[in-house]
Amino acid sequence: MAVSVFDSLPLPPGAQGWPWIGETIPWVRDPLAFAQQRYERYGPVWRTHLMGRPCAVLLGAEANRFMLGTHLHLFSSRDGWGKPITSLIGDGLSLIDGAEHRRHRRMIQPALHGAMLGRYFEVMQQLTAEHSADWSRRGQLKLFDGFKHLSFDIAARLMLGARNQSEARRFYDQFHLFTGGLFAPPAWKLPGTPYAKAWTAGQSLRRTLQAVIAERRAQPPGDDLLGLLLDSRDDQGVGFSDAELIDELLVLLWAGHDTITSLLTWVMYELLRHPEIYARLLDEQLQLVGDGPPTMAQLKQMPLLDRVLREAERLHPPAPGGFRGVVAPFEYGGYRIPAGWTVMYSIVWTHHMPELWHEPARFDPDRFAPPREEGKKPFALIGFGGGPRVCVGLAFAQMQMRIVVSHLVRMYRFTLAPNQDFRPVAVPTKMPKDGLMTTVEPRTKNLEPR
Ligand code: HEM
Repeated sequence: MAVSVFDSLPLPPGAQGWPWIGETIPWVRDPLAFAQQRYERYGPVWRTHLMGRPCAVLLGAEANRFMLGTHLHLFSSRDGWGKPITSLIGDGLSLIDGAEHRRHRRMIQPALHGAMLGRYFEVMQQLTAEHSADWSRRGQLKLFDGFKHLSFDIAARLMLGARNQSEARRFYDQFHLFTGGLFAPPAWKLPGTPYAKAWTAGQSLRRTLQAVIAERRAQPPGDDLLGLLLDSRDDQGVGFSDAELIDELLVLLWAGHDTITSLLTWVMYELLRHPEIYARLLDEQLQLVGDGPPTMAQLKQMPLLDRVLREAERLHPPAPGGFRGVVAPFEYGGYRIPAGWTVMYSIVWTHHMPELWHEPARFDPDRFAPPREEGKKPFALIGFGGGPRVCVGLAFAQMQMRIVVSHLVRMYRFTLAPNQDFRPVAVPTKMPKDGLMTTVEPRTKNLEPR
């Protein structure tokens, strides 16, 4: 396209909102309504202003394919994230681009896929049993909090080499001060602000991780994820430096436990609100596994659990969308998108588009079963992103969620506490406002379905 033709194209329609802050507040409050209202007003391409920058929003499965699959060269993932995140996390996998990204991805991916997952199975299984037994002793808890501790504990054992809950707990407090600053612009170290606290916690975490790495480098690599990362080599036979590994561990910890926490909470929310599906799932689990624990092979053959997880991912994606910085101007849908803007793809709106899903607001796991088999269109179900930068922890997350849900459904009975607020809060982690307060009691040993 000649430059003059490109320059004469209009910018996408849309609104600027308030100075600097733009339309950030309505987007954070309800990313689904935000995208839906503007889709109805402007169609699939429009502009907004989020977190201090103009942003083009490209909606639909084709737009997702464009951004995530076919036109990666136009975008920078690093530029898509805000300053608080890049300054705190540094150069971890989601925050790097190009050759550096490809090198890190090749070194990390094998540790989170295939046969290597088998090494994490026991830890996930055992910690799920320990944490849930504790919930049952307590009788009542916010499931969101329970899942957060469980997911962090699993991550800390596998990624940081924590040997027990009290070692994991040491990391937990620091880590949550740290993540508390990731979505708290501006990135100014004013004493007492979430960003300043996150910065201090980050420095201290980095020192702790440095000590853990030094200790582990002096030993045989070990069987956990940290061991695999320490042992991993690029095409030139070079491993991660300490500084690279620290950034990667921070990203994996962050991306790897808040997301699982959120999705598990929504899985339980939907199951408890749909007792008939819960009963079918229990039936499936008892027939396949019985009193358990399941084997790795059994985990892969749980069709209803698989559909329940996919349906929760569709209705309640932990990340509402993804951002990229535009590094080269381009045309999309007849509009001009300038370099220096950000672009966003909307996971949550893709998952609610009537063009893609029948009765999109309904929790209906059977939509994925034959003969309907919805969601087969590429880039329609994108709770884990898509294309070459699809979530690197997808298989790890799916294994963990299967282990947890299978165990909870077979071993316990859950009841939602009355008078709680289930409305979703989107930031920092999507959760029901009151955290999903439930009572937990052992299910009887009777192997008949309820
Ligand atoms: C329910 C669980 C999870 C969900 C819903 C989820 C979602 C996502 C999404 C949507 C992306 C793409 C973001 C984008 O396009 O901007 C992504 C990327 C990523 N995820 Fe996950 N994730 C989950 C679990 C995990 C786990 C367990 C790990 C690590 C152990 C992890 C590590 C990452 C990393 C490092 C990236 C960046 C990949 C790259 O840029 O190459 N995630 N995830």
